[in-house]
Amino acid sequence: MTFQELIRARHSVRRYRPDPVPQDLLSRVLEAGRIAPTACNLQAFSLIVVTEPGMRRRMQAVYADDWFWQAPVLLVGCAEPAKAWKRRDGWNSAEVDLAIVMDHVILAATEAGLGTCWVCAFNEAKTKEILGIPPQVRVVAMTPLGYPDVSPRPVGRKPLAQLVRRERW
Ligand SMILES: Cc1cc2nc3c(=O)[nH]c(=O)nc-3n(C[C@H](O)[C@H](O)[C@H](O)COP(=O)(O)O)c2cc1C
Repeated sequence: MTFQELIRARHSVRRYRPDPVPQDLLSRVLEAGRIAPTACNLQAFSLIVVTEPGMRRRMQAVYADDWFWQAPVLLVGCAEPAKAWKRRDGWNSAEVDLAIVMDHVILAATEAGLGTCWVCAFNEAKTKEILGIPPQVRVVAMTPLGYPDVSPRPVGRKPLAQLVRRERW
């Protein structure tokens, strides 16, 4: 699969087969996150892999839709702002770093034939309670991971002319 084919093959998957994700595929997907760039290479992030059925069922409390916790794997992307790069004006790279990590993970999963869906509409406080995440860590994004049980309908995008400005705003 070329990169162009890969980025067009990724779609949000909102229904998963219960079949487990083979360990070698999961490792390959996580490795793609490990090698993602972060500001100043500070790598102030953690990915929590949730596969145990009891834990996944508890994660039902953090997001409204059942397809989320019913996927065989949940990947929870966390960032630690205190350990991430700060610009002189105070801006912190932790969430951008984590977004790049998640995108690597999601594209590697797509290449492996696995479905994913960015999920940010979760309850962060409940997530932290269930997974024992320390107070200074932010939960930035999650994705279920598993074999798709649907053929997702491609969602349209704005034309490039609406998204790209030449030379200035
Ligand atoms: C930062 C971010 C947060 C998202 N949060 C959710 C979410 O909580 N629930 C959901 O079903 N989809 C969520 N999505 C998926 C988007 O709705 C989806 O990517 C978009 O509609 C384009 O569809 P596609 O991914 O199939 O190309 C999120 C996507 C992004 C990038």
